Amino acid sequence: MKVTVSRKAHFNAAHRLYRKDWSFEKNDEIFGKCNNPNFHGHNYELIVSVTGDIDKETGYVIDMKVLKDLIKKEVEDAFDHKNLNVEVLEFKDLNPTAENIAVVIYNKLKLQLSTHLDLEITLFETPRNFVTYSGK
Ligand code: NI
Repeated sequence: MKVTVSRKAHFNAAHRLYRKDWSFEKNDEIFGKCNNPNFHGHNYELIVSVTGDIDKETGYVIDMKVLKDLIKKEVEDAFDHKNLNVEVLEFKDLNPTAENIAVVIYNKLKLQLSTHLDLEITLFETPRNFVTYSGK
């Protein structure tokens, strides 16, 4: 019997979508306003879902306090009020699209979770645009 528990989190961050190896014109054509050299911000909403068996002793899949602290340390403290391109090492050479941010968050959290737990990341870049990654 597998149960999924989820926690929501939030961070504000700035980014610019572009490739260093493309001309400004090519970046402008592909990324449009997101290629603004002066960056722009998003209010990112995150849903972290953990799936696993219910522990017989505690009744938990994962202690929510543990999950909360993990998200704070690995995501909020690392990304909140940061310029992702400039200040976050993972995006030094990786375009900080919602897709890539979701994968980076997944990889950071997965490393810290018990191996028997499955993880899924849903990241809202705007209220209407969101991406999901579960390690596949
Ligand atoms: Ni953007």
